[in-house]
Amino acid sequence: MIRYVKKMRKKELFSKKLTDILNMGALNLAMGIGYRVGLFEVMDGFESPRPVAAIADKAGLDQRYVAEWLGVMVTGGIIELVKSENLDNLFFLPGAHADFLTRRSGNANLGVYTQEIPLLTRCGMDGVMDGFTTGDGVPFARYQNFQAFMAELSDAKHRQVLVDKFLPSVAGGEVVKRLKRGIRVCDLGCSEGVALLLMAQAFPQSFFTGMDIDAAAIEQANRDAECLRVSNVRFVVTDAAALTEGNKFRQCFDYVTAFDSIHDQTRPLAALEGVYHILAPDGLFSMIEIAAETDLQANIGHPMGPFLYTVSLMHCMPVGLMDGGTGLGMMWGRRQAVNLLRQAGFSKVSVEEIPDDSFNDHFLCGK
Ligand SMILES: C[S@@+](CC[C@H](N)C(=O)[O-])C[C@H]1O[C@@H](n2cnc3c(N)ncnc32)[C@H](O)[C@@H]1O
Repeated sequence: MIRYVKKMRKKELFSKKLTDILNMGALNLAMGIGYRVGLFEVMDGFESPRPVAAIADKAGLDQRYVAEWLGVMVTGGIIELVKSENLDNLFFLPGAHADFLTRRSGNANLGVYTQEIPLLTRCGMDGVMDGFTTGDGVPFARYQNFQAFMAELSDAKHRQVLVDKFLPSVAGGEVVKRLKRGIRVCDLGCSEGVALLLMAQAFPQSFFTGMDIDAAAIEQANRDAECLRVSNVRFVVTDAAALTEGNKFRQCFDYVTAFDSIHDQTRPLAALEGVYHILAPDGLFSMIEIAAETDLQANIGHPMGPFLYTVSLMHCMPVGLMDGGTGLGMMWGRRQAVNLLRQAGFSKVSVEEIPDDSFNDHFLCGK
């Protein structure tokens, strides 16, 4: 009897969990759309509850679509509904919610992430579905607009943390001292160059090189550098895995960074050997990767485990599997990362926390 009751209770809980899953998945999609069209910013600008017409008007959007979207937001507990004296519906985005949902939120902006699963679904779904039977990877080129999304994500992540918190924490402040004096820095897998441009602006005595395999991202990075009139940077199309071929950049850099850009490469070991090759003998390398354990069981309590594994399933792993690639996936974890860094030749590897960023690990490496 006790066993029967326990089983029924478990079923009840699981059925409730499934309902939550359906609701939250749907809510994420609608929030991603709202974020993209700027509705959270518009609502954040109102000091009191407003009717749908005022919201749609301020956003320059269709009233019927906005009304339906508000239906999702109100039933999902994101936006509050109040009734006017005439019993009309008025809508309000509480400041405590806007603090996590708008572009003003900087590093706390989780709104930007609501676009990620919808974007990866649109671009990667068919390829990933095929992959389940063929084992093949999905070409990076299928993920249209991914670099623009990455740039937006980078901006939200780096603008408040990179220069003021992360860099001063590296090697007890030694890197900032060197940056102020003037050193040569490389950001590998720089995408559209958001992080590199922030560093270059903060440390005009140093010279910065951004490398990425994606020519379109490098073009955009060069355009942004020109637009911002940052002259101590250059961006070059480079395959990190081919850096050891030839002497072009051998020991050319005093500090190398790789933000979130090693795990989805097809040849991550060759890329890390490339970093070793381009680093000066007393240089430092900062590899930033998602904080996770290599052992799946140890990730069970991870606050964003399902989200991160899904991003990996829909993008990082299939992209990394192309051309017979390794396909590490985003959740490859500390143990595997340290092993690969050592295999690439780094004798000094320490795993450090990043101030105000519990979601990433910093692997600080020296030769
Ligand atoms: C997840 S994105 C990270 C971008 C950026 N570092 C950031 O934090 O926003 C990974 C980047 O690695 C680049 N990449 C992938 N394979 C590469 C390779 N073999 N050589 C250089 N860059 C590569 C991709 O083009 C992409 O821009």
